[in-house]
Amino acid sequence: MPLGVFDSGLGGLTVVRALRAALPYEEIVYLGDTARVPYGTKGPATVTRYALTCANHLVARGVKAIVIACNTVSAVAPERLRVELDLPVLGVIEPGARAAADATRVFKVGVLATAGTIASGAYPRALSACSTRIETYGQAAPLLVPLAEEGWTDGDVPRLAARRYLEPLARAGVDVIVLGCTHYPLLFAVIEEEARALLGPQVQIIDSAKAVAREVAAFLENRALLRDSSLGEGSVKLLVTDLPKSFDETASRFLGSEIGGAEQVDL
Ligand code: DGL
Repeated sequence: MPLGVFDSGLGGLTVVRALRAALPYEEIVYLGDTARVPYGTKGPATVTRYALTCANHLVARGVKAIVIACNTVSAVAPERLRVELDLPVLGVIEPGARAAADATRVFKVGVLATAGTIASGAYPRALSACSTRIETYGQAAPLLVPLAEEGWTDGDVPRLAARRYLEPLARAGVDVIVLGCTHYPLLFAVIEEEARALLGPQVQIIDSAKAVAREVAAFLENRALLRDSSLGEGSVKLLVTDLPKSFDETASRFLGSEIGGAEQVDL
């Protein structure tokens, strides 16, 4: 059975890239809700409603577990999905929070995320669960999403945007910054460079996609749900709710390899 992964759009492919590196034999069905992206600017009830339709579609395709690649959905809807669906549902907040908690030396963690994720308080809750000593400083960074979508990942424009969003975190004196949005790993180099300029070379940037992939791999192994390696390398099936052609064009940037054939589905 395949592993189901969904996001509001393209960004979750950064999680698929990390999953493929960690779990090369898994079959993955990825659903990007391109008709209704962005989720990060919408309220929790709307995001939860959208998330349920995405997850139910993946369940109908026979997935063995669901990875919510979207931070905004992981921030507001995982409990509801777990109640409604009869299969394991893994989110992206806790793995990122655990990686950040392990990395911080001064117990001050910065989080860059969508407005919806910051407003939910999900990261401060997850970080406090790791250590009550940790203070979390959240910063909504909405402009980074369209910059990543446009492929505008280096040069002055993303650099200035990143600096503006990082300044409050620098004033707080954090030593770890979590990229709490699926799109931000595409801007990793710019964010890291600006963060180092503001906070010094010791600052650590946590790409939660890698932390998620590690935890999904461990979860599948513990539950004996891993696909047998003798079946050969797994493939990725792409589903979108709108504009499959432009999704194909951009997907290669997120997956780091040429990939196409996105199928349009109606939720
Ligand atoms: N997938 C969203 C997230 O990780 C970012 C894009 C959006 O706002 O829908 O929070």
